[in-house]
Amino acid sequence: MMNKKVDDLKINIFADGANKSEMIRLYNQDLIKGLTTNPTLMKQANVKNYKEFAVSILKYVKNKPISFEVFADDFMDMEKQAIEISSWQENVYVKIPVMNTKKKTSYDLIKSLTDQNIKVNVTAVMTCEQVKSIENVLNPEVPSYVSIFAGRIADTGVDPTKTITESLKILRNKTLSEIIWASPRELLNIFQAEAVGCHAITVTTSLLNKLSLVGYDLDQYSLETVKMFYDDAEKSGYSI
Ligand code: E4P
Repeated sequence: MMNKKVDDLKINIFADGANKSEMIRLYNQDLIKGLTTNPTLMKQANVKNYKEFAVSILKYVKNKPISFEVFADDFMDMEKQAIEISSWQENVYVKIPVMNTKKKTSYDLIKSLTDQNIKVNVTAVMTCEQVKSIENVLNPEVPSYVSIFAGRIADTGVDPTKTITESLKILRNKTLSEIIWASPRELLNIFQAEAVGCHAITVTTSLLNKLSLVGYDLDQYSLETVKMFYDDAEKSGYSI
């Protein structure tokens, strides 16, 4: 579709966002294998009615996984929301934060939900210890995702590829559970995630727009960069 390096990717690319028309447009691309969103992205996109937003997207998004996140903080309310969200359509995964705002872990809830056959996407995960606890409670017969926030891990100066590699090992016997490299920061992360055998990566539109640069001639790119500096200096009328 775009170029061989992109076409050859084995990793599943999920589009992350909350702009409805953009999500539907991306859903229709072969390259995009699923969709994700979260309450922060929804707020940024000015979504006012959660259910109306989700249900209106689900009219178009039928055949690829899509994740919507619970927003309650109490585990009983989270469970109710998860049951409701999951009832909206077969391809829905319910994002469950790995802990609530009181730092209470969600493992019991994850067990209860997956035992009820609800597909979860455990979100905001950042440590291998968390992945071990999640692995312990996931029902092996129910598909699930574990979203490791690699970009946020990297923001702390820690190499997330180690966390992802170790997490893939921890989850290897749960054949229906997949690791998502979440919170990417640059296009290179797609190739880093691919190299360690990660199942999927969530990618925002701004990163997806950079896919056209994959394999681009670096001498040519160098020239274009120099021209940009030259043009901008000229437009500004600089003289020394
Ligand atoms: C993934 O599912 C999340 O929506 C997303 O990747 C969060 O990334 P951030 O760290 O940029 O908020």
